[in-house]
Amino acid sequence: MADNYLERQMEDLQKRKNRRVAKPMLINTLLKRNRSHRGYDSSYKVTIEELERIIMVNTLTGCTKNQQILRFKPIIGKEAANFVQHIKLGAMLPELNLPAEGREPNAFIIVATKELENKWTYLDLGISLQSMMLKAVSMGLNGICIGSFNKKAAKDLLPDDYEPLIVVAIGKGIEKIELVPVQEGEPIAYYRKDGIHYVPKIQNIII
Ligand SMILES: Cc1cc2nc3c(=O)[nH]c(=O)nc-3n(C[C@H](O)[C@H](O)[C@H](O)COP(=O)(O)O)c2cc1C
Repeated sequence: MADNYLERQMEDLQKRKNRRVAKPMLINTLLKRNRSHRGYDSSYKVTIEELERIIMVNTLTGCTKNQQILRFKPIIGKEAANFVQHIKLGAMLPELNLPAEGREPNAFIIVATKELENKWTYLDLGISLQSMMLKAVSMGLNGICIGSFNKKAAKDLLPDDYEPLIVVAIGKGIEKIELVPVQEGEPIAYYRKDGIHYVPKIQNIII
């Protein structure tokens, strides 16, 4: 405890420094840009190196008991072009038949595991997916997690004993997407108006 004026001033200064509100962090920018894209610039061909850089974040993330039971299969080229028919995008906008022709993604990551019965698999999956999406955004790319896909078609691209959990599409997104704050009870389905895709987000702090 400081017993003279100068030392007390120094202590106060230190306390204030410690409490200083940090500048808005890059993480918020990444999170805001991390929107699910359902239309891509088809002239931009995602490379295998880009997919590998995205997959590599999984060597940096936490997971239950450090079990590391997820595996990642990058898909590009003809295999990716063929896989487009096996994904379903935009269930809430069925009339649009997304992705529109010529705006399909040309790269995918199939996330797979041998441990389908493990009760922690899906928690690990969430951490992995969000980490990969943020990495993609940090590289100037975009993506979308796809739970609605043909499991057999994905399994055919994997070694025998792996089960596909989810597919991530990666590419240069071309959609204009905006977040809309809404209150509890208001509609939360995403919608499109005048060429903009709106995503309602609930203000979710419990007071
Ligand atoms: C685990 C997971 C699975 C998803 N599966 C699909 C899907 O099959 N098809 C689709 O169009 N969107 C899918 N999405 C995207 C969501 O619809 C999207 O995250 C939601 O509309 C909110 O938009 P935002 O990601 O821009 O915040 C999925 C998202 C997550 C996290």
